[in-house]
Amino acid sequence: MVHSTLMPGIIVIGAQWGDEGKGKVVDVFSAQADYVIRYQGGANAGHTLVVDGKKTVLHLVPSGVLHPNAVCVIGAGVVLDIEILSQEIEALQEAGLLKDPKQLLISDSATVLLTYHRELDQAREQGAGLEKIGTTGKGIGPAYEDRASRKAILFGDLFQSSTLKQKLMSSLKEKNFLLEKLYKRKPVDPESVFKSVEKIAEKLAPYRCRDTSLIVYKALKQNRKVLFEGAQGTLLDLLHGTYPYVTSSSTLSGSACIGTGIGPNMIDKVMGITKAYTTRVGSGPFPTELSDETGERLRSIGQEFGATTGRPRRCGWLDLVALKYALRTNGITSLALMKIDVLSGFKEIKVCTAYELDGQVIKDYPVSPGDLERTKPIYETLAGWSTDISVVKNIKDLPKQVQDYVQFIGKEMATPIDVISVGPGREQTLWLKPLF
Ligand code: GDP
Ligand code: IMO
Ligand code: MG
Repeated sequence: MVHSTLMPGIIVIGAQWGDEGKGKVVDVFSAQADYVIRYQGGANAGHTLVVDGKKTVLHLVPSGVLHPNAVCVIGAGVVLDIEILSQEIEALQEAGLLKDPKQLLISDSATVLLTYHRELDQAREQGAGLEKIGTTGKGIGPAYEDRASRKAILFGDLFQSSTLKQKLMSSLKEKNFLLEKLYKRKPVDPESVFKSVEKIAEKLAPYRCRDTSLIVYKALKQNRKVLFEGAQGTLLDLLHGTYPYVTSSSTLSGSACIGTGIGPNMIDKVMGITKAYTTRVGSGPFPTELSDETGERLRSIGQEFGATTGRPRRCGWLDLVALKYALRTNGITSLALMKIDVLSGFKEIKVCTAYELDGQVIKDYPVSPGDLERTKPIYETLAGWSTDISVVKNIKDLPKQVQDYVQFIGKEMATPIDVISVGPGREQTLWLKPLF
């Protein structure tokens, strides 16, 4: 990693197809953090935190929010659904959190996501038939398209009425054409969108922080502890994931710098979050997917249903070929191994250590279009365990088979495993090494 005299920024990144447990890890780490930053994605993310049995699902507010010591930042790279954000803020306040508006800072450069982005996303998916990506329907693609085509409304625009109106009218001309003529949907009424946006803007005004990149830079310069919270996962990355079955942002660790607006020399650690098995929501290739009773069992024990859409997640064994790809493309320096408790009771546990592709055994993840679809997983089989490990508080009390499983992964990946998670709760976290 790049060395500097600065206190390191730490990136927490999904090493699979999302839903690895990033929210839980960030919540646990946030007890010691000064800043927690969301820098890409939007309300397609669903990050679950469980404290004393109480569940909180966050879509846009960073997962540090349960800790009043942690300032939460939403950076320029996020597509900000202001309706969902304002509902999320209200719910948090009803729960007695986020009392001080200074605990949430929103960048003026973030892209605003509005109802018509969601409508376009859903209309496209409905008409797509077999080519369906299986998006969350949250308007992520259309919002990033606006950003790339330089038509986006930025968070800072919400506070300049005439600019906002002008941008909205010009954007809606195009959007309504698509909605009406191509997708045969009802057009959106510009005047009512404008009115509702102005109302929400008023509610969000206390959180406006023009330049969050400067705040984060200064924090790092002052040796403050800064966590960058990734959304989605490596294999959903727009450039390096299973294209076109990906999300519309860069989910790799490099995106933390770009989406926040800081340099890579401020990052010292990248923690990759992985489940002890694999899940995926939506369409696209998934070599170790189990469409049988075992997959069903992982789904029901792991409660593998989407935190954003409620859709059942596809389940399969751990894929070390894909994980090794995540290590490389993110520069992962250590791993957190989540949901290992879900594997209790399996007689045998399989781990994919290579693929067969067109009659050849490969150990490197193939990136050429169509290749991953043709791979067949090659497994090693490890012994399972039958004890309930969700109550274990010390690594040394884990059954030998669990320790063997963890060691096997660490060795194959040549990467330290710093955290083992044995349940959704904060306290169900076993530390091998402190984060900060
Ligand atoms: P994220 O999107 O990466 O934050 O992950 P999600 O919140 O979408 O999905 C992870 C799910 O697994 C949530 O329901 C968590 O409460 C739960 N979870 C996290 N860690 C563990 C664990 O170690 N064991 C079990 N059983 N559940 C966990
Ligand atoms: P977190 O942060 C899992 C998936 C969708 C779909 C594809 C594109 O909770 O891990 P999109 O709505 O982004 O255009 O959908 O990406 N997807 C996720 N899968 N976890 C997520 O977020 C996801 N965000 C998007 O299911 O396959
Ligand atoms: Mg999730």
